[in-house]
Amino acid sequence: MRILLFSGKGGVGKTSLAAATGLQLSRLGYRTLVMSVDPAHSLADSFDLETSLFQSQTGEPFSINERLAIHEVNIQLEIKRYWKEISTYVVAVLRTSGISDVEAEELAILPGMEELSAMMYVNQYRREGRYDVIVLDCAPTAESLRFVSMPTTLDWYMKHVFPFQRGLLKAVRPLANRVSPVELPSDSYFANIQSLFQRLDGIGEIMEDPRITSVRLVTNPEKMVLRETQRAFVYFTLHGLTVDGILVNRVLPETVTDAYFKEWRASQSKVLQEIDQYFSPVPVKRIPLFTHEVLGSERLEEVARVLYREDEDPAAVTRTEAPYSFVKNNSHYEVHLQLPFAVKGDVGLFKKGDELVVQVGTLRRHIGLPTSMAALSPLKARLENSRLIVEMKEV
Ligand SMILES: Nc1ncnc2c1ncn2[C@@H]1O[C@H](COP(=O)(O)OP(=O)(O)OP(=O)(O)O)[C@@H](O)[C@H]1O
Ligand SMILES: [Mg+2]
Repeated sequence: MRILLFSGKGGVGKTSLAAATGLQLSRLGYRTLVMSVDPAHSLADSFDLETSLFQSQTGEPFSINERLAIHEVNIQLEIKRYWKEISTYVVAVLRTSGISDVEAEELAILPGMEELSAMMYVNQYRREGRYDVIVLDCAPTAESLRFVSMPTTLDWYMKHVFPFQRGLLKAVRPLANRVSPVELPSDSYFANIQSLFQRLDGIGEIMEDPRITSVRLVTNPEKMVLRETQRAFVYFTLHGLTVDGILVNRVLPETVTDAYFKEWRASQSKVLQEIDQYFSPVPVKRIPLFTHEVLGSERLEEVARVLYREDEDPAAVTRTEAPYSFVKNNSHYEVHLQLPFAVKGDVGLFKKGDELVVQVGTLRRHIGLPTSMAALSPLKARLENSRLIVEMKEV
């Protein structure tokens, strides 16, 4: 199975291009699911579906054609199904602070629940072998970054905090419940977390396998959008995901010669050049600004025709280089890490337990070291062709 993740700044065209890609994939014979991870869903709108028709569905994918289905994760439904104990507890705590029931239920949708629910579905569909390709239409960049960092964060929490918290609460609950202003979470709350975690088992490895998961970054030929795209590129790479395509949407077509757009054209062509240089060797595709909004299957087919040659397979695996590797170089060990754009002063390195922590600006990545290197610490690092090489030594 392949997973294609569409990410980018708000409004750049992620949903439209993800939907068009779904159409192309299904035309080529793949059993395809386009899934919306964005809490503000617009996937059904993109296909111009009657929302009432779509929402009456019970959290099941909705068929667009024989091989293509779409799925907008319905968080209220997910909470009832899988997050019951967690949300019951959060609602109870919020109620004690005088918040009304309805408000408490709204607030009990915790950040990350949508993303985690989507990941559980991806994992489930993969186990069932139900689809050949899952296209993920993500929320604007900030949220999709949370999406990719979640498996590692959770893994860390489950290893380091969860057992301690659960054990501690078991011991102090009877006493603490008498003195604490809010009730402490019961053991079923922890059991709920544990069962959710089990449903996510393996998702981290799936997302880091370039033969399974690829990121397509959608951008516009504008400076501000480009900056965010670069940040996203660094962040995805840092988290071990492979970006194998940059899609520049809303490029002014040559045929527009109106003087009004002269300046736009000049600035676009400058940014387009910059984009080609920055992301090389990752292929860059350009999609024109259409004369109309992209709405409904016919218009989406039109986008697909511009985006892909007739027989072009959007699920083809083109980049398989692992985002990081461990190398023994003569007498010392090295960690090699792909790190586009990072400048030397930006990169921080330190050791935490048996993990190497790499920090770029405010972004952080924990890299679990193999046993042979677990006792080593970072000595120095150098940048070579977008690759950070960290030399490890014994302390
Ligand atoms: N190349 C294009 N030409 C004309 N209109 C476009 C083009 N691409 C997208 N649009 C339109 O722009 C609007 C935003 O597109 P879309 O919903 O795909 O963006 P998005 O990145 O998913 O937005 P959000 O961040 O809100 O999820 C839609 O109305 C869509 O029809
Ligand atoms: Mg969208």
